[in-house]
Amino acid sequence: MIVTTLRRRVLCLAFASIATMPFVHAQTSDLVTRGAYLAKAADCAGCHTAPPAPGKPQPHPFAGGLPMGSPFGTIWSSNITPDPQHGIGRYSYEDFARALREGVAPGGKHLYPAMPYPSFSKIDDDDMRALYAYFMHGVEPVAQAAPETHLPFPFSQRWALAFWNFAFAPSKPFTPDPKRDAQWNRGAYLVQSLGHCGACHTPRGPAYNERGFTESSRAYLTGGTNDHWYAPNLTGAQGAGLGRLSPGDIAAFLKTGHGAGLATFGSMVQVVEDSTQYLDDQDLLAIASYLKSLPASENGGAYDAHSRLAQQSVAALHTGDDERPGAGLYQSACARCHKSNGEGEELKFPRLAGNPAVLSEKPDSLVRMVLQGGRPPSTEHGPQPKKMPPFADKLTDTEVARVLTFVRSAWGNDASPVTTRDVKIMRDAVSKNTSP
Ligand code: HEC
Ligand code: HEC
Ligand code: HEC
Repeated sequence: MIVTTLRRRVLCLAFASIATMPFVHAQTSDLVTRGAYLAKAADCAGCHTAPPAPGKPQPHPFAGGLPMGSPFGTIWSSNITPDPQHGIGRYSYEDFARALREGVAPGGKHLYPAMPYPSFSKIDDDDMRALYAYFMHGVEPVAQAAPETHLPFPFSQRWALAFWNFAFAPSKPFTPDPKRDAQWNRGAYLVQSLGHCGACHTPRGPAYNERGFTESSRAYLTGGTNDHWYAPNLTGAQGAGLGRLSPGDIAAFLKTGHGAGLATFGSMVQVVEDSTQYLDDQDLLAIASYLKSLPASENGGAYDAHSRLAQQSVAALHTGDDERPGAGLYQSACARCHKSNGEGEELKFPRLAGNPAVLSEKPDSLVRMVLQGGRPPSTEHGPQPKKMPPFADKLTDTEVARVLTFVRSAWGNDASPVTTRDVKIMRDAVSKNTSP
């Protein structure tokens, strides 16, 4: 938690320095400022900045060294400051565009798709030039080598990625849809290219390939798992999707980490802190308008606030009559913040009743949240974040499964149960994750 706040402060400093650069003349400086905004939209810093370590100096923005978990091992992000030796200072514009769009660095080094080049292939030329100007003239060079990635054989064979790219990475530029208005097209562009939202929210196939890069694929943005977080369905599904949220709710969620009684959690916290909070309202509404247009893919659970069972569960919790396993645990461990009726408290504690993420097809994020706790993003325009405490030491696997099964079936929520096995697998995975 301190980690992200500190990193944000470093980034603010980095961006403040653009304004005071004397040697960049006016026209370039407009381009650099635009590039800085686009780098936010693409969250380049989020992946290319090392996490702060206690007792060490602040990590430099864009100097690389963030370890990224993948099913094949740890991949380290590169130094992308304009340092000629350790960074990208010697890149020509063509080198830069090729690395971003095709995942091939100078010298023919194939990049692992942990770098979201399959999405960045849709970045248009104007934006690519602005990004290049920013990285060459708006970012401080840092002469520091990022750790090298050593994946086990056969994943160590970078050349083999050429085949992967041929099979799975699209190389088509973004093409506006003339049947849609400018707002929709702007949203589609931001989501599919710079925002690389599909890198987390689209399910992956057996070769770790995203199953679709535009709304023309049925699996696009229907929910995916990355690094043990499940990024939910962003289509118009009524239960586990965005069907019940307004475009304004979605824009607020991306700007402040709060909206419609929900709070951002898990790996989305970083996305809001480093990236979407900086987007202007027009761009946020464009994203919302595009997401709201996606046809519903009804995976995950359902919600009916008025069902008879929903009314009963609220009444029963109040009187202590609810005999479902998990109800008592909820009442003693969770209700003080999320409330007996599951409504939470606006801008403080998220609602669990009717919360689309709670109804997700896969409960991974919920299990991880209860074990590890967390906090919503701290943003310029959002409220002071409240914490969710970790329960890993307080609840057994069976208890976590029971309380979440209850949460997924109370107050009109209707999603599949969470099993003790789900919890055990997650506990093993995250305990490995945190002790390197
Ligand atoms: C989701 C994480 C992620 C995001 C977002 C991201 N990158 Fe990367 N990038 C990586 C990783 C990881 C690597 C190293 C891949 C490898 O070693 O094969 C990389 C490699 C690169 C390289 C190749 C450097 C080299 O020569 O080794 C460049 C250039 C680059 N990124 C630029 C960018 C820019 C510019 C942005 C924003 C527009 C960006 N990246 C956003 C993860 C990311
Ligand atoms: C690093 C992975 C990652 C990326 C990239 C990412 N998301 Fe998310 N997103 C998540 C996770 C995990 C959640 C679930 C936690 C939550 O609801 O806050 C989530 C939740 C959401 C939600 C709330 C959904 C719900 O049902 O409650 C919205 C809206 C959203 N993301 C939009 C976006 C958009 C738009 C982008 C691209 C600009 C994006 N996300 C990029 C991981 C990601
Ligand atoms: C001290 C207050 C507090 C208690 C007690 C608490 N939570 Fe939370 N919970 C929060 C806060 C704050 C968040 C938002 C965290 C975030 O956004 O990262 C949250 C988020 C969640 C989420 C993710 C939903 C979302 O949209 O953010 C789930 C699921 C959840 N809590 C379940 C539980 C369960 C189950 C219990 C009891 C075992 C519990 N919580 C106890 C404060 C609490």
